[in-house]
Formats: sequence, structure tokens, C-alpha cells
Amino acid sequence: MNDTIDRAALIRAAFAAREHAYAPYSGFKVGAALLAKNGTVYTGCNIECATFSPTNCAERTALFKAVSEGVHEFAAVAIVGAKAHGPDDTLVTSPCGVCRQMLYEFGGKDLLVIMAKSETDFREMTLGELLPLGFGPEKVL
Ligand code: THU
Repeated sequence: MNDTIDRAALIRAAFAAREHAYAPYSGFKVGAALLAKNGTVYTGCNIECATFSPTNCAERTALFKAVSEGVHEFAAVAIVGAKAHGPDDTLVTSPCGVCRQMLYEFGGKDLLVIMAKSETDFREMTLGELLPLGFGPEKVL
């Protein structure tokens, strides 16, 4: 499955989502594009708050959009983020601990996580590599 994923298209979608980032406090804008196993792409951006703690990361915004529409199975997520504006200044942004846990809930260890600086410059790892020995629903259900 991972061989057939169009990385460039997913990264492009993440960059487009990043345009909507609401990050006036950190100035760190993030975009994510989550590919469902049914082929649909759900995008998200980070959304900050004057009281800081309710801030939602781009990855969870995308995930919550998908789950709220009844979609629970995912193949990959592309993430782009940077303090500076514009694709030339992006960093490889890896998901925070909370997002790793939340993605694990639905994506499991095989979810492909694409951390991109551009459509051609990216690093990818599985969620199992980013969250070894993850605690998931199979332990509780
Ligand atoms: N952020 C994300 O949206 N995703 C990540 O993977 C890392 C961090 C956001 C949260 C906050 O709005 C800003 O980036 C700085 O931490």
C-alpha cells in the first residue's frame, strides 16, 4: 500500500492546509493531510487560542475532521510546518506526543508519517517507529 501513495500530492495538500493555520501566538504554522484508506484526504491546520492550552495541532484537526465524518482507517499523513513563511523555509516537523497517541488510536503502527520540507524533500517513518510500544485500543477493547 505504501508504495502506491502519492507523497507529492499529500504534501501539496498539507501545504495548502497550512495557509489556514491560525498561529498568532507561536508564529509556527503547520499543515497536515491525512489519507484515509478509502482514498479521501482530510486536511488540517493548527488552531491556537489566547489561553494557549486549547490549541489544536494540525494533525488532530485533520483527524477530527475525518472521524467526525465516520472515517476511522488511515494509510498516511503528511505534515509541513515552520516558523517562517513559505515552503523554502520549512522544517521537518514531526508530530507531537499527543498527536502520535491520537494517530495511533486510528492509524496504528503501520500509519506512514511523511514529514516534509517540500514535495521532494521529506523524511518518512511509520507511526510504530515514532511511538514504539504504543498503547492502543487493542489493549483496552
Ligand atoms: N504543532 C502542530 O500543529 N503540529 C505539530 O506536529 C507540532 C506543533 C503546532 C502547535 C502550536 O500551534 C505550534 O505548532 C507550536 O507548537
